[in-house]
Amino acid sequence: MKIIKAKDYKDMSRKAANIISAQVIMKPNAVLGLATGSTPIGIYEQLIDWYNKGDIDFEEVTTINLDEYRGLDKNHDQSYWYFMHKNFFDKVNIKEENINVPDGSNLDAKQACSEYEEIIHAAGGIDLQLLGIGNDGHIGFNEPGAAFELLTHCVDLTDSTIEANKRFFESKDDVPKQAYTMGIKSIMQARKVLMVANGIGKADIVKQAFFGPVTPEVPASILQMHPDFTLVGDEEALSKIDL
Ligand code: F6R
Repeated sequence: MKIIKAKDYKDMSRKAANIISAQVIMKPNAVLGLATGSTPIGIYEQLIDWYNKGDIDFEEVTTINLDEYRGLDKNHDQSYWYFMHKNFFDKVNIKEENINVPDGSNLDAKQACSEYEEIIHAAGGIDLQLLGIGNDGHIGFNEPGAAFELLTHCVDLTDSTIEANKRFFESKDDVPKQAYTMGIKSIMQARKVLMVANGIGKADIVKQAFFGPVTPEVPASILQMHPDFTLVGDEEALSKIDL
């Protein structure tokens, strides 16, 4: 496990973008596992900036996103497909056919999830998986208690997640109740894992996940066992650990 300390959010985003950029320069047809959420937005902005300057090229890159709501069409403005296009894909030269997000419109969960694992396999596996971390230690939609041996699967969203997300929808009833997510095992199979965390709100969980016991109660803690795991955190997120 490698921990890189960044000054602030901008510095964290630049350092993480540098690691992704190095991966793409070393392997132009790299397979990048990507995440949504607020933390990676600065990374995507930095990569777009370098792309505009001609410093990075996504022509041959394949992307595999972590998760998607079950039951949302990709063009719904709350789908992760939409988020990724708005914040990243539409602004670089990645090929649409090389973009992969679980198919939320396929209500056959078993089929949607097994097809996604086949996509990962056919791409040759993930070279670099980018992750954020939830306040309870979740990665992807793998909430506390999720079994470490799961591949892509369908999860029931917790009531608190549905409650927290209802502000993005017309009513609570419109919030999807389930999601498709890469499992912990799918994430652990990536050759390199890069996590980003910023802000004081993440300080406790960062300490618990990487300086506490490895347990399904803190899903991110399994990353302690990954052979090539890097955490880039800002000063606040790393403030409770002794480097
Ligand atoms: C995103 C994802 C989530 C987030 C996590 C942190 O695709 O799967 O696990 O990484 O909820 O979210 P933020 O970055 O908003 O704090």
